[in-house]
Amino acid sequence: MPVNLKGRSFLKLLDFTTEEIEYLLDLSEEFKRMKMTGMPHKYLEGRNIVLLFEKTSTRTRCSFEVAAYDLGLGVTYLEPGTSQMGKKESIEDTARVLGRFYDGIEYRGFSQKIVEEIAEKSGVPVWNGLTDEFHPTQMLADVLTIKENFGQVKGLNFTYFGDARNNVANSIMVVCSKLGINFTACGPKELMPEKELVETCKELAKAQGSKITLTDDIKTGAKDAHVLYTDIWVSMGEPDSVWDERIKLLQKYRVSKEMMEMANEDAIFLHCLPSFHDTNTTIGKEIAEKFGIEEMEVSDEVFESAQSKVFDQAENRMHTIKAVIYATLK
Ligand code: CP
Ligand code: NVA
Repeated sequence: MPVNLKGRSFLKLLDFTTEEIEYLLDLSEEFKRMKMTGMPHKYLEGRNIVLLFEKTSTRTRCSFEVAAYDLGLGVTYLEPGTSQMGKKESIEDTARVLGRFYDGIEYRGFSQKIVEEIAEKSGVPVWNGLTDEFHPTQMLADVLTIKENFGQVKGLNFTYFGDARNNVANSIMVVCSKLGINFTACGPKELMPEKELVETCKELAKAQGSKITLTDDIKTGAKDAHVLYTDIWVSMGEPDSVWDERIKLLQKYRVSKEMMEMANEDAIFLHCLPSFHDTNTTIGKEIAEKFGIEEMEVSDEVFESAQSKVFDQAENRMHTIKAVIYATLK
């Protein structure tokens, strides 16, 4: 059956079939080609979307804005703390108001329940721009980048190093299990994904002929990996007090040149960004002064190496988000 996502929300990848995810990836490639060749694609002129952010952003916000402009859409950006939502107006009422004004709503914020509620009450497609539990638009860019480097994705070995129970790690495990990519979470036992999600993904992976592995052993994680991925050690919304423990738990999982050498000879490094690979940020400096470490989740050497595809990956956020907007609003 042909895939049709018109009117659907994009809240988490568990809601989408393998074919639907592949369709979004194909569409992303098409939009990337159009952008590269300067072919206009203002297919959604006359419609409007709103971007509701309760956490900060560079890539996700800019991707939604540029994608929307390219598609001919009008865009409103509501920055953290500047709408009535939460303080003076319930999520339910906010969703019902925004649904009257806009054709689609992007939400970045805290609990997954909030984005689910906005989708339920607004009556228009809602796109999850990151919650505490999931970051589904990021995954499309990640898989597109892998496809560009390896030609296809099925059967590849993907290892995520670090805080393996955060929003990015959860979403990667889901997308890998849906697309037949072998997924390994490599990190301390304390930071492994929730059992229920692991079981769900194991079932999905089995149906696609791939595996889900959890390990605290770096060699097991790095050996033969095609993709080595990491994310920051403390996510937005977590208290500063967790830094101390996180650094103790995660230092040995920093993606290093030695790990890249254990991996497949064509291995690539990916990171959703932003990244603490040096001390050129306020937090990076503070951590260096307090804990004496100048690199966190990835060494600067790996981040800056030819194997690192993080800026291609960042660019792909825009092409893939454009595909999601178009597919659900067209
Ligand atoms: N990767 C990502 O979501 O980046 P931003 O936080 O800058 O949007
Ligand atoms: N895990 C990170 C991802 C940022 C894109 C966070 O939630 O802050």
